[in-house]
Amino acid sequence: MNRRSLLAGVGGLLAASGVASSGLLATPAAADPVSRPERDGRVEALLRKMTLAEKLGQLQLLGNEADARTALATGQLGGVFSVVGAAKLNALQHIAVEQTRLRIPLIFGLDVIHGYTTNFPIPLAQGSSFDPAVAGADASVSAKEARRSGIHWTYAPMMDVTHEPRWGRIAEGYGEDPYLATKLAVSKVRGYQGDDYSSPDRLAACAKHFVAYGGAEGGRDYNTVDVSLQRLHNLYLPPFKASVEAGVATVMASFNTISGVPAHGNGYVLHDVLKGSYGFRGFVVSDYTGVQELILHGLAGDGADAAAAALPAGVDMEMVSTNYVQYGQQLLAQRRITNDQIDDAVRRILLVKFKLGLFDRPYVDEAGEVKAPSPVALAAARQAAGRSMVLLKNDGPVLPLAKTVRSVAVVGPLGTATYDLNGTWSGLGTGAATTPPVTVVDGIKAAAPGATVTYSAGCTVDGADTSGFAAAQQAARAADVTVVVVGETAAMSGEAAARSTIDLPGVQQQLVAAIKETGKPFVVVLVNGRPLTIPYLHDNAPAILEAWAPGVQGGNAIADVLFGTVNPGGKLPVSFPRAVGQIPIYYNHENTGRPADPANKYTSKYLDLESGPLYEFGFGLSYTTFRIDGLRLSDTRMSSRGGRIQVSAKVTNTGGRAGDEVVQLYLRDPVATIVQPVRRLRGFQRVTLAAGASTTVTFTLTPDDVGFYDNAAKFRVEPGKIEVYVGNSSAATLTSSFTVT
Ligand code: NOJ
Repeated sequence: MNRRSLLAGVGGLLAASGVASSGLLATPAAADPVSRPERDGRVEALLRKMTLAEKLGQLQLLGNEADARTALATGQLGGVFSVVGAAKLNALQHIAVEQTRLRIPLIFGLDVIHGYTTNFPIPLAQGSSFDPAVAGADASVSAKEARRSGIHWTYAPMMDVTHEPRWGRIAEGYGEDPYLATKLAVSKVRGYQGDDYSSPDRLAACAKHFVAYGGAEGGRDYNTVDVSLQRLHNLYLPPFKASVEAGVATVMASFNTISGVPAHGNGYVLHDVLKGSYGFRGFVVSDYTGVQELILHGLAGDGADAAAAALPAGVDMEMVSTNYVQYGQQLLAQRRITNDQIDDAVRRILLVKFKLGLFDRPYVDEAGEVKAPSPVALAAARQAAGRSMVLLKNDGPVLPLAKTVRSVAVVGPLGTATYDLNGTWSGLGTGAATTPPVTVVDGIKAAAPGATVTYSAGCTVDGADTSGFAAAQQAARAADVTVVVVGETAAMSGEAAARSTIDLPGVQQQLVAAIKETGKPFVVVLVNGRPLTIPYLHDNAPAILEAWAPGVQGGNAIADVLFGTVNPGGKLPVSFPRAVGQIPIYYNHENTGRPADPANKYTSKYLDLESGPLYEFGFGLSYTTFRIDGLRLSDTRMSSRGGRIQVSAKVTNTGGRAGDEVVQLYLRDPVATIVQPVRRLRGFQRVTLAAGASTTVTFTLTPDDVGFYDNAAKFRVEPGKIEVYVGNSSAATLTSSFTVT
């Protein structure tokens, strides 16, 4: 395939993902291919034929083939997850469709998080792109590969907003801001599902984890979350609400408690909010043994208790543990659960199966199984990775490197890393395991074919051995420039991967110091799944490129940026703390009555640390420079009932090469009945501008943008002044205001 058709292919993917490439996208309601009465009629007809045992069976989801076969023997199984391979899946489906009384097909789920065979950058990196089309492209590529391989349902997108970089699962979401997370999550839902997820290229999506999982105390996975109603609704719920509006098929409950009540038994969030006020018609799946865990949480005394808490609360399908099938009949006889509750859960599951088209086409064509990434998919993954990288520092400037450079030393344990470049949840499809990512060394060799490229690890990621430093220094001395690739292994972020410190692990920082000692030019490339505390690098490395876990094309995408084929335009979706003791630190915080003031001891700060983050939310550099000015508001007043204000600003590329800028709009409500964040993002647009070119970026604000939820979970739009800030990070200084009347 030539370069042109590859790019056309990528453009097609972005278009097929159903999202605009600008930052602001509408949230179209998903079209319904089978009319609601027709499908509901089929669901109701089937439901009337089902015995209680068959109904309870539909509520069961199991995670391996052997257990699935055992459950199918009694007809008590609704779905299977984590089984991969078209032939295996068809074999299970044949049993369900040919050997059970009502021939109800199984639904097959899998964690297709950022790729099935083609690994895209991790979701946190996608958040850095500030481009919903990146998430949409990942989702549409993944959906096509997975569905053609027999999978119907993905456990993504993960949309947990978090202020906790110690929490390993920060890698799976879009960072600390609910607005950014909402735009990316909705785009991803649309990319998976399209308009009609019965299509052979689409998947049913799952909004997870419901809810407030990112609030885990201390960043320790699965930990307690105690949250006010206003914060629940303003911070954690918005991506879920928007995903329901976008037609997400399913939702997964979270492992945490929410103010004392575990999510799996939390009728307020599942029943009242999700199914009640949001009107969610799909089904809720438990997380892995989440129903059973109600016992250890201390909400239930035994399995029967756990089922009696979870089903009425709104968990429709039980993953792995088997309390619904085991105790459902007994609980019904004891009137601890009702027939209506069981029917409602079954109806929701059958509805999604109908919408997937499983009753008409239960099997997958085994010849069409996707076992390796296609060139178009690889090109999309490379483009997504390039758009996700964030340039944190570039003194000199050292970057971009000249393609005519004579010699490059690659140093650091991640310079020849393969699967670590995929990060957490690397694709579970058969092809992913046999397609190692392109290493940084290979990417650099391909980008600078005339250069001598050497490699010296120096140390391991988390070991204490410094005996390799001398060789690394020697390599650096012999080269024109050194690229130091350091960070985290894939296993250091993701589920159950909390870290109590978030420094560069092991002796990697000393390795950077050793390279600095040579006096030769060098740049640092970070490969990691969370923000790291890197004041040493900031003070000592001439250039820092945050590449995150960039996926299967990682080495090529890093080289694209290092050599300037791609001008970095990503921005941080999360604040980088100076030290772990500052956590939680996030841009959208409330003011205190004593905001930090270095001249006044009795203000909110640490004695031993400068206030504020090392790098703020929304920050990222480019190889060119931009000016943002000409801020204009279309009006000075907005009616709280249906008013609208257009905010526009001019952005100019003032440097010498084409590049991307993300124009960001923040609001502040300085006086409100619930104190408001000092800033909150309410608009962003990523634009590409040629050297010297300029454009006007326009945002439309409505009462939805200025209102907030109070502690009765009521959305309020209060009269008064609203401050507007526009710029290229959360520290934007261009300002104006309007009044809500
Ligand atoms: C547990 C994780 O929390 C969840 O995100 C995942 O989808 C399930 N396991 C299934 O693998």
